Amino acid sequence: MSEPSAPRFLGDIPIDAARAALLQAAELACEYLEKGAAYRVLPEIAPGDVRKALPPSPPLEAEPLAAILRDYQALIEPNVTHWNHPGFMAYFATSGSAAGIVGEMLCAALNVNAMVWRSGPAPTELETLACDWLRQMLDLPAEFEGHINDTASMSSLLALAAARERAAPQTRTRGLAGTRPLTVYASEHAHSSIDKAAITLGIGLENVRRVAADDAFELRVDALADALRADRAAGLLPIAVVSTVGTTGPGSIDPTPAIAELCRAQGLWLHVDAAHAGSAGICPEYRALMPGLELADSLVVNPHKWLFTPMDCSVLLLRDPHVLRAAFAVTPEYLRTRESGVVNLMDYGPQLGRRFRALKLWMTLRAFGVRGLQQRIRYHCALARELAGWIAEDPRFELAAPAPLSLVCFRAVPDRPPEAQDGFNERLLERVNATGRVFLSHTKLNGRYVIRVAIGNLRTAEADVRTAWQAIRQAFEDESAAYRAAP
Ligand SMILES: Cc1ncc(COP(=O)(O)O)c(C=O)c1O
Repeated sequence: MSEPSAPRFLGDIPIDAARAALLQAAELACEYLEKGAAYRVLPEIAPGDVRKALPPSPPLEAEPLAAILRDYQALIEPNVTHWNHPGFMAYFATSGSAAGIVGEMLCAALNVNAMVWRSGPAPTELETLACDWLRQMLDLPAEFEGHINDTASMSSLLALAAARERAAPQTRTRGLAGTRPLTVYASEHAHSSIDKAAITLGIGLENVRRVAADDAFELRVDALADALRADRAAGLLPIAVVSTVGTTGPGSIDPTPAIAELCRAQGLWLHVDAAHAGSAGICPEYRALMPGLELADSLVVNPHKWLFTPMDCSVLLLRDPHVLRAAFAVTPEYLRTRESGVVNLMDYGPQLGRRFRALKLWMTLRAFGVRGLQQRIRYHCALARELAGWIAEDPRFELAAPAPLSLVCFRAVPDRPPEAQDGFNERLLERVNATGRVFLSHTKLNGRYVIRVAIGNLRTAEADVRTAWQAIRQAFEDESAAYRAAP
């Protein structure tokens, strides 16, 4: 009888092939960054085009990485929306720096899962360190401790989970049954992630009070006080207020100190959503525009938005992280370790596994230095001021909101009846985006269509903002001509 043959070790592809592919990927990444501006910001493709160009079933046999990279280059790279493009000024412009890209690559090579300190000592400690650097950059008190989540949506969800833990600790064991309905308060301009957090946490959309804002789009504290009074009288249990520092639509900054005073008086959790604008807080002159950050119980800032760290990287800073641990810590036997007094990152939310996101943040902060980051943010704000000036001087346009940082909201004011103005602006925006040179997005303010120019991409220079402004003015002319030519 012949011996059964020993199982054959296969493992990964040979290291020389891996090296060649990684070097090629590095080359592709650099070429992309170099020639990125040659692409149209928005690819000219229709839904389904990418899928149609790819085999519907997986390959049975191994394919060489060189062939896969060729397909990447031909089919994938050209068909993304180019967030790293200097003409990307939609939503909130973001960009991945070279240092951050290096961090991402090495993160994949290490493939660490820092569930507990033991399963990722350096990642755990680097995460708390990088967050503490950010805390210092934002001039926040030493008691704030941070950790990194994928997105601000998750960070705000965790903040509200901590608020729920503090106000209704029995929820952890018994769920919400038997608890008075919980309520959360945020400006009418707060991000939809607050609604999603309420859905996820069992608070319910109906119990998110969207508080009216004033003419500057800032939450009205008198309206907040009224809503709290009414809800308490109705037997509801208010747990938290969200103050947005840099709202997504108009970029307004809620009056955090007055909100904090109300929160302190009523024992409410104060969460500050500074997902985007918080990055500007590393410059003292812009930090002065956002007083009261230090009064928060929790604060979210996304380095993946305006600190040039590649997606995804959202820092949640908590004044008392114990509350979040009390909400989420559950340690199964297999994750018990002998170390005491260490941070086990799995205790800070529902997810167990976590990527080593701190590496790219740490590398980005070091590669620019605080001064380099400040200079870039100041440059973006200066570009926004310049654009706002051009808009203010052109009678065909009007600014739609104050522009304290790097977001400019405006609309065209053609000589048309009021009901035709929104459609004009919508078509104008389509024309601008169809040029492929810039990508802008929109919002509605006071019920009216508004175009947003969000400057914040590392690669955006003054010439790109001029290109955007030129495209906007040209689109105005073209849309006016089309209107005149219409039967
Ligand atoms: C103020 C604000 N908060 C939260 C978010 C959600 O960010 P994320 O995509 O990281 O969840 C955004 C997105 O633009 C935002 O502008």
